[in-house]
This record gives sequence, structure tokens and C-alpha cells, in this order.
Amino acid sequence: MAARKLLPALYCRHRGGDLATGSRIIGSARQPFTDDQYRALLEERVRPHIDPDDFNVEAWNQFLRQVEYVRSDARDGASFDELAARLSASGDRTRVFFLATSPSFFTDICRQVATVGAVTPASRVVLEKPLGRDLGSSRAINDIVGSIFSEDRIYRIDHYLGKESVQNLLALRFGNALFEPLWSRSWVHDVQITIAEQVGVEGRGEFYDHTGALRDMVQNHLLQLLCIVAMEPPSSIDADAVRDAKLQVLRALRPFAESDVHARSVRGQYRAGAVGGQPVPGYLEEPGIPAGSHTETFVALRVDIDNWRWAGVPFYLRTGKRMQERLAEIVVNFRHVPHQILEPARGAFAHNRLVIRLQPDDALMLQVQAKTPGDGMRVQPMSLSLSFEDSAATRRLDAYERLLMDVIRGRLTLFMRRDELEAAWRWVEPILHGWADSSDAPKPYISGTWGPAASSALIGRDNCAWHEEA
Ligand code: BG6
Repeated sequence: MAARKLLPALYCRHRGGDLATGSRIIGSARQPFTDDQYRALLEERVRPHIDPDDFNVEAWNQFLRQVEYVRSDARDGASFDELAARLSASGDRTRVFFLATSPSFFTDICRQVATVGAVTPASRVVLEKPLGRDLGSSRAINDIVGSIFSEDRIYRIDHYLGKESVQNLLALRFGNALFEPLWSRSWVHDVQITIAEQVGVEGRGEFYDHTGALRDMVQNHLLQLLCIVAMEPPSSIDADAVRDAKLQVLRALRPFAESDVHARSVRGQYRAGAVGGQPVPGYLEEPGIPAGSHTETFVALRVDIDNWRWAGVPFYLRTGKRMQERLAEIVVNFRHVPHQILEPARGAFAHNRLVIRLQPDDALMLQVQAKTPGDGMRVQPMSLSLSFEDSAATRRLDAYERLLMDVIRGRLTLFMRRDELEAAWRWVEPILHGWADSSDAPKPYISGTWGPAASSALIGRDNCAWHEEA
């Protein structure tokens, strides 16, 4: 994580001139390295993760000179003395403690840095997901971290919120008058949000088996996307205005009764198959996965938002590993015209459909009905597309670059507030319980497909179809 994401992001912002002169980057872990050994490690492990277009030897060497290393062990208080001593040389400058560790160390580390006096009024802490395994464990972490850092100094990262494309979604909804009149139950038929990945568990078998797709992707990334799509326009872009609006959505999510978990959710697990033409093993054959594991690598849910804007509009959420494509998109299907005077060229009328693609590229597509050329008055769906990549000439910041700079500048809008996080856990918990109480195994699906057939059946029951099947 530090090597793949954080340090490359810090290097890029250093190269972009965003890190103030005299900024220090102090790496800390259990291994005993000298500063120079750590720099050599960065050369070996971090440099390969920097895009060659962003690499500049002079900037890199300058960056390395700002990097230091101190050994510490979350379970050994004395090991934090050296960190405190080094930090004291920076006086009252802003300090960011980025805990790129397992959440099981969050509270210990916060206590240790507080005990050695390293937490100053200008200190902030950054916590990575998953924050806890359920509501209770997330509260326990938040209580302890909150006794050391006030809420406005806690930055809970969801890297999806740092993506340019996700911010564009905010711009699309709140920078244009065009969509708002259509953005409700009056005109929206259903909404689909998909995050599909081609990768498997990527060597994180043990972590993943303990976590599963619901905690890894739905509780955070998918619910955050859902919030941005469904929230009321906030009164400003300030952190609390945006977070209040998202919280209203989370609170309006219809709770799952444990008895309807099976009707409204599908969990799947990948089997061997081929992705992008390459054979891949099944989940149960991946290193670190116990035989017979019931951990889900795919989730599809039907979600209802019980408020005036969205009553009766189904939201379908879906995520999976080892899927056919790497794709993150939001599909808004609009209602049919109230009185039809034309004929479809083939089959049934297609919905007007707005597709907001977030990954692998940023694009907007609007499906409209247009006349089929030739005789007669028949219509067929046509797609109008707009690719943002082509229109944006400037270099795009990686999500971590943006989020790290937001932490340094004290901007909280893109970070989750405690009440948001807890509302998300409260909603997710009955699904976890419903699955845990069931003896049914997750539905198998072949790697390289769009998930188990039950996922198509889930949405088909409402006379809807996933975008790629429609
Ligand atoms: C992480 C999950 O939060 O997001 C990973 O832990 C997942 O399992 C990743 O692969 C996906 O992020 P992105 O930015 O590659 O879509």
C-alpha cells in the first residue's frame, strides 16, 4: 500500500511543487532500517510504481532526501520515543499520521503516539478502510481514536471519493441544471451501480477471506457512490454540508430484514476460468484461502431508498472480482414516454439511459431513441457519447495524490465522518448476519463472466436487466 500508492502519490505531489519546503516524510514499521537503507528500498519498491511520464531523476533524488525512517512497533510503547524525538525537530508544523496498517493496530498506534507526546494540536490522523468488521468494532476504534484526535482531525479514507471521475459525478449533478428535473422517481425507472474487477485476491488471500466483498467494496465504495447519485443537493461544497446530505441517504436506506436477505441479495464466489484470455484459478485454489470457505467475491443487491425522491425506484448494486471486464459505472434508466406513438425497430422499446462510466475511462453516454433510416416511422436506440479523457488536457491526479493533499490542507469534504461510517455499518450488518446464519454457500460463477446467474434473476424479477444484458 505505502509502496504502491502513498509514496508514489507523495513523490508526484513533490514533483508538482505542492509539498512545502522542509516537509519531511517519515516511514515507520517494525523492521530496523537506517534512513539510507529505507531510501534504497524506496528505489527498489516504489520507483516501479511511478508512471514513467511523471518520473524525473532530479525530483526523485530530492524527494528521497526528504524521506527518513524510524523503527516502531505498535505493541511496544518505548519504540515510539525515537519517532517523538525526530518529530519534535519540526515544532508546530502540521503532522499527518497515515496509518497504512491493519485496522487492528489503529488504536494501539494512536495511543502510543499520544503517550510519547507526538500528537500536537496541528496533528491529523488518516485511517484506511475497512474500519472495523461491523458496527460494534468500528465504534470501538472510533471511540479510542476520537479520544486522541478530535473528529475534524480524523480523515477516514475511501479512495473512490478521490477519483477524478467520482468528483466529476458531483460536478455533473450539481453543476448542471439539465439533470436535476429528471433525477427522481418521476422520471427514473431504476439505477444500477457496478464495480467489476478482473483481478482476483491479488496475494491478499488471508485478509480477503476474513473480509469478503460486502465489507471490502459495498460498505464503503459502492455506498459512497450510491450516496453521491441519490443525495439531495447540498447547500455548499463544505465538508459538513456534503456529509450531511450523504448521511440522509444512508439513513433512508430500507433496512434488510434477515428474512429478506435472500430475496434481495446474491453472493457469489469465483471458480477457475479465463480472464482477458488467461486461465485463472478459482477462489478456493488461491493461496491463503481455507478449504470450503464461504467468503463472497461477488455481491449483487436490490436497494430501496425510502424518501420522497426515490420511493419505488430500485437501485441495484453489484461488485465482483474476476469479472469479464474492469468496469465501474452508474447506469440510470429513465421511464418510457407516457404515451407511445412510434414503433420500435426491433423487440421492445429501450429505456433512455444515462451511463456514467468511472473506470477504466471517464465517459458519459446517453441512449436516446432515433428514427431508423428508411421508410416507416420506427425508432431504435442510439448512443451519444462524450469522453472526458479527450477533453481534459491536464494531467489527472491519482486519488491518493488528491486525498493526501486534502489532508495536508485540512479539507474534509472527501472523507467519511463517523456518523456516515456507522450508518453504513448499521445498514450492512443484517446482510452479514443473514448470510452467516444461512447454510447456503455463495453461488459459484466462472471467472471471466458477469457473476452468477442468480444476479440476473435478482434484477430480472423486477423486469429489469443489467446494462450489459439489456
Ligand atoms: C480496495 C479493495 O478498496 O479497492 C480492493 O480493498 C479493490 O479489493 C480496490 O481491488 C479497487 O480499487 P480500484 O481503484 O482499483 O477500483
